[in-house]
Amino acid sequence: MTCFSSADESAHYGFSVCMLLDQYREQLGWERDGVVELGSGDATAISDVVASLPGLRVRGFDISAASVAKARENIRARGVDGRYTVELGDFFDQADATGGPQIATVISNPPYIPAPDRDILMPELWGGVHGNDLVLQLLKSGYDNVIAAVASYSDPVATVRTAEDAGYRVANFLAMGLDYGAYSSEPKVRDHIRRLCDEGRGWAGDDEYMVAIALFTRNPDVPGDRADQLLRSLQINL
Ligand SMILES: C[S@@+](CC[C@H](N)C(=O)[O-])C[C@H]1O[C@@H](n2cnc3c(N)ncnc32)[C@H](O)[C@@H]1O
Repeated sequence: MTCFSSADESAHYGFSVCMLLDQYREQLGWERDGVVELGSGDATAISDVVASLPGLRVRGFDISAASVAKARENIRARGVDGRYTVELGDFFDQADATGGPQIATVISNPPYIPAPDRDILMPELWGGVHGNDLVLQLLKSGYDNVIAAVASYSDPVATVRTAEDAGYRVANFLAMGLDYGAYSSEPKVRDHIRRLCDEGRGWAGDDEYMVAIALFTRNPDVPGDRADQLLRSLQINL
């Protein structure tokens, strides 16, 4: 078993989560309740966030045993054990353990690799046929705030419209261009991405795509709705 590894993407996830938690500190309630995380990976990204935001507590889950072992090592090495824990298991099976939606905020760089089936380089990164199964499931789980990665080739329009139907607005986001890494470059995945984009379900260049880390919120105290800007930043023509 391997562990997810993509330094640029993890750094983008960590930096963006830190910005959004800090910018919406008052409204998100994390100083009181902490946050939960779907898919901690090796935990480097969020360990740095916990280190730089005093008072932040994160309860993470990952289905990859190798990732959980590495995460615990990294959390200890960065001195944030006690405030950041990672448990082995499917996030959605842990709803009771996490307090479910009683915790206001969930963070995630969820699996978003689209492919016809789970037989890909790292099966734990499979996001379903359109790549957005896990973010859709998160948006239907009842959290007031969902901070999640949205990839340009994983049917972002369906993700944003599903969020709207569930009562969310896009408060803000940080978008970044990424080169194809090992997981998107796998020929079976690359061909599938091309088909999805040709069908109008997203955008990818020859060897690049966009990922935005977005704050979806149902909290009336958080103003604004940047859903269309989010989609445009992912190169979607509206
Ligand atoms: C794209 S990686 C992100 C890792 C890390 N957060 C980062 O950004 O560096 C997604 C992670 O989600 C985990 N995962 C997949 N499905 C999951 C589930 N249902 N519950 C918990 N973790 C899951 C995978 O094993 C993988 O480590």
